[in-house]
Amino acid sequence: MKTLNKITLDVTITIIDFLYRGRHFPRFWVLEEIARAPYFAFLSVLHLRESLGLRTESHFYLMREHFEQSVNETEHLVYMESRGGNSYWIDRFVARHLVLIYYWVNVVYYWLFPVSAYHLSYLIEKHAAETYRKYLAFVDGQDTKIEEIMQDEINHSNELHKAMELILQ
Ligand SMILES: [Fe+2]
Ligand SMILES: [Fe+2]
Repeated sequence: MKTLNKITLDVTITIIDFLYRGRHFPRFWVLEEIARAPYFAFLSVLHLRESLGLRTESHFYLMREHFEQSVNETEHLVYMESRGGNSYWIDRFVARHLVLIYYWVNVVYYWLFPVSAYHLSYLIEKHAAETYRKYLAFVDGQDTKIEEIMQDEINHSNELHKAMELILQ
């Protein structure tokens, strides 16, 4: 599954990098729009499992974490909008269709293989941090807000790593 995650991510990155070359903020906006979906999916599945009497010891911790992550990603999205990331209809069209598919993929993936679903998001968060790091290098570090967002992405990847370890116990 880890290899499949890596291949899926690499193919997606190649397509997005090609489509959004030289357009930093539309690219960030699309990535942020998509990056939120797994957290909604994890929460949906945790709610459903809870409702079906399948509450685990890590349940409250995971719900709290994923709720905070989804709020944090929404803050990133709003910030990218303030910098014109969603100005064009085509970017909104692409992102909103991708997110629809990606949300449901994550619901099924997390329900059946939670560790693998976490691993995919872990890779995506690491890639997001790397994307912002490259942008910061491009602007000589002159963007404190993006630096802050990059740190959030690093925190998310660490939190997902911890979640993976927790459910493996
Ligand atoms: Fe983000
Ligand atoms: Fe993130």
